[in-house]
Amino acid sequence: MIIMNRNTSPISPIKNEYMDEVYKRTVFQDYPDVELGQLKDIYAKDNNLNVDEIELASGADEWIQKAFITLGQNGVMTITPDFFMYRDYAEQLQLPFYEVESEADYSFDFAKIVKAIHEKKPSLFILSNPHNPTGLMFKEEELQAVADAMAAIQGYFIIDEAYIEFGEEYTRPEGDHVLIIRTLSKIYGLAGLRIGIIIAQGETYDKVTRINHPYPLDHVGMNLASVFLEDKAWVKEYADYQLEARDLLVDAFRKVNQVMNVNDSYTNFVFTYGDKALSLGRYLEANGFSGRFYEEDNLKETVRYSIIKHEDYSRLNELIEEWLKNQTIKK
Ligand SMILES: Cc1ncc(COP(=O)(O)O)c(C=O)c1O
Repeated sequence: MIIMNRNTSPISPIKNEYMDEVYKRTVFQDYPDVELGQLKDIYAKDNNLNVDEIELASGADEWIQKAFITLGQNGVMTITPDFFMYRDYAEQLQLPFYEVESEADYSFDFAKIVKAIHEKKPSLFILSNPHNPTGLMFKEEELQAVADAMAAIQGYFIIDEAYIEFGEEYTRPEGDHVLIIRTLSKIYGLAGLRIGIIIAQGETYDKVTRINHPYPLDHVGMNLASVFLEDKAWVKEYADYQLEARDLLVDAFRKVNQVMNVNDSYTNFVFTYGDKALSLGRYLEANGFSGRFYEEDNLKETVRYSIIKHEDYSRLNELIEEWLKNQTIKK
């Protein structure tokens, strides 16, 4: 089965020779403090960030949870659909949790979102941009409207940029109450190492990092990530492979856009919806390509597919064409 339901990279970024280098660098019997600083320096430099405004933890996931603990006391608001873990963490922490529903076409009415913020006054608002599961990016003015509304009620706004390297650069909303979450799990292909990044300023940084562990990540994982990130030419080639895989993915599914909706993608996946979407999803699954199906009411007629190896697209294209031959044209 070719997995298309996990939003991970189809190939590993880690070369065998990295292992020897990591073995040499790692002082296994010691606590890993120097390595944390080294990895932060590399990431900050590569991404034009101030190293004093970033911190690392176990995946973007841990930052979501930490931010909910430190900034979410009066409730967390998000949009739905979005990354399902937002709900899980709010439930885990027994925080008031509010969701603003999308429209039927999975777009969002930001006037409705701003109104909900003023009504419920959550202490934290979070959404993903680029957005999971639609694969789209929000407009700068939409994000600014959320940031302004959260500032007006003295709350915080987190933009979860797990997929940002697949997206387009944009002007982020201003303000110390705006935080960004990133990860090495997506374009960097290191989901297994569990490295997430928070970007925050001033007092917000102090608050969100207040409950940090002294050694948040392990030696080996950090050294492996650093050795990879230092291999600049390969990092670029590896990222390009995935960007190309995403373009091949969108091209493959565009073939069915007379019978269902196929979104553009600013992520490593493509989102399909409409009453034929499940039929195609099941057909592909029966033939060895497993997309992501959902149980949630508002996602029942949707399937999301993530990138696969370049060499697997010819079979995927054949299957999509075979399925399409048996359809009557109607969205
Ligand atoms: C929007 C979004 N945020 C965060 C994550 C989790 O990232 P990490 O692997 O760094 O915990 C994911 C993973 O799929 C995601 O889709």
